Amino acid sequence: MALIAPSILSADFGNLQRDVEMINRSAADWFHIDVMDGVFVPNISLGLPVIRAIKAHSKKILDVHLMMIQPEKYLAEFRAAGADILTVHIEASPHLHRTLQAIKSEGMKAGVAINPHTSVEALADIITDADIVLVMSVNPGFGGQQFIEHTYKKMEKLRRMIDDAKSNCLIEVDGGISIKNAAALVRKGADVLVAGNAVFTHPVPEEAIAELKSIC
Ligand code: DX5
Ligand code: ZN
Repeated sequence: MALIAPSILSADFGNLQRDVEMINRSAADWFHIDVMDGVFVPNISLGLPVIRAIKAHSKKILDVHLMMIQPEKYLAEFRAAGADILTVHIEASPHLHRTLQAIKSEGMKAGVAINPHTSVEALADIITDADIVLVMSVNPGFGGQQFIEHTYKKMEKLRRMIDDAKSNCLIEVDGGISIKNAAALVRKGADVLVAGNAVFTHPVPEEAIAELKSIC
């Protein structure tokens, strides 16, 4: 059964505690938190103080997705703010191996994210060092975008790579996920599904999470 990680990016930031408590009550497994720096991606989202505020109320794992350059500068700060999982982009990490080791030595799970244009083959020499591979199924920067269908092909290759390496690395898919494509992604080998828009535009977000959980 796949894990569901609602994306806080689509929450109501004026009622953040309410939305965090909704996720606590729901069938969700993780909180997905998107940090955007306005350089690596053309948007600015939230940073350390907001993660600390979420941590104060959350009862689930905080899965922090860093869409920023030089993520290695702030690993200890993200840990102190409450991150349990820290994912960096391969495209923003010239010393990825070192960064993954540093994330783990801070006591977090280490993730690598790949943009839609990045081939899964780029992960071949790092797959046994990562706890999670996050496959972007939209171009990072915004919630509510359309799912890129080519993701399915990448998933097949990635699933094979991880199985061949006898690795426990989880595959997380992020962007444009809804009840229309969730089951197909799990069939292709997804272990974790991120959903922002599909959860928070639902009249009863908890029900959207329960529906996603039940079809995965
Ligand atoms: C996009 C973010 C996603 C986003 C997903 O850059 O990484 O986590 O919040 O939102 P939806 O599910 O609306 O595509
Ligand atoms: Zn994300």
